[in-house]
Amino acid sequence: MATLIDGKAIAAKVRAEVAAGVAEMKAKHGLVPGLAVMRIGEDPASKIYVTSKRKVAAELGFHALEVHLPEDVSHAVALERLQALNVDPAIHGILVQLPVPKQIDADSLLAALRPEKDADGLNAVNAGLLAQGRETTLPCTPWGVMRMLEEIGFNPMGKRAVVVGRSILVGRPMALMLVNASATVTICHRKSNLPEEVARGELVVVAAGVPELVKGAWIRPGAVVIDVGMNRLADGKLVGDVEFAAAAERASAITPVPGGVGPMTIAMLMKNALQNAQRTLRR
Ligand code: GUN
Repeated sequence: MATLIDGKAIAAKVRAEVAAGVAEMKAKHGLVPGLAVMRIGEDPASKIYVTSKRKVAAELGFHALEVHLPEDVSHAVALERLQALNVDPAIHGILVQLPVPKQIDADSLLAALRPEKDADGLNAVNAGLLAQGRETTLPCTPWGVMRMLEEIGFNPMGKRAVVVGRSILVGRPMALMLVNASATVTICHRKSNLPEEVARGELVVVAAGVPELVKGAWIRPGAVVIDVGMNRLADGKLVGDVEFAAAAERASAITPVPGGVGPMTIAMLMKNALQNAQRTLRR
């Protein structure tokens, strides 16, 4: 039976580190780091996520701001609001919550975000720096996964890592972070032979958004399994992208859903916002 990786406990540790960093920044430099979260429209999941991001930011001592724009706002107006945050000296981190309504071009909005203020590493300049293996602001969820691996003492160096999913939010940056950590990485998607590829992984990270896509029987005995999925079934049950009970029989360590990767995303967002503010002091 696999060890459970306790995302709640690791996230609490990260939040405590950030709170200490914020307090030090205030005491030594009189600077309060600011985080702005932009939410466009009424996506119900985004509303819950953004409320919780703002709440955690305030608890850790940030100046926390939510900019909420209506469902039918034009791209031009959204861009204008973003540009105002770009030049606001009280704001060090900006996040545009995805998804955005149809009339908004998410790519061009993210491109307009000043890379130094990007709080979740989705701006193309930061994504490019990650691809080149250079220091940058990292996307929160995959960075949270890297932190979990560190906390359980799993070093990806030389290991076969299989990433299922190729989104800009998780799969792609996850694969790059693992390459930068010297793992041998396979990225899988809907055209891949999943059972065959997953079976090779000493580390398997799944971010596909499909309930229980990865079967327990595919898991290589002793593998570390990280499930980024969060799917609500018709009966109200919350499940990940991995068939948990069967996978836990074979894995050496596995993340539960909920209580695994989920809590890490917000904690790493806070770390990014603090780092952005710290970098302004070094310039
Ligand atoms: N939507 C769901 N997760 C995220 C995230 O981590 N960042 C952003 N910007 N949008 C999201």
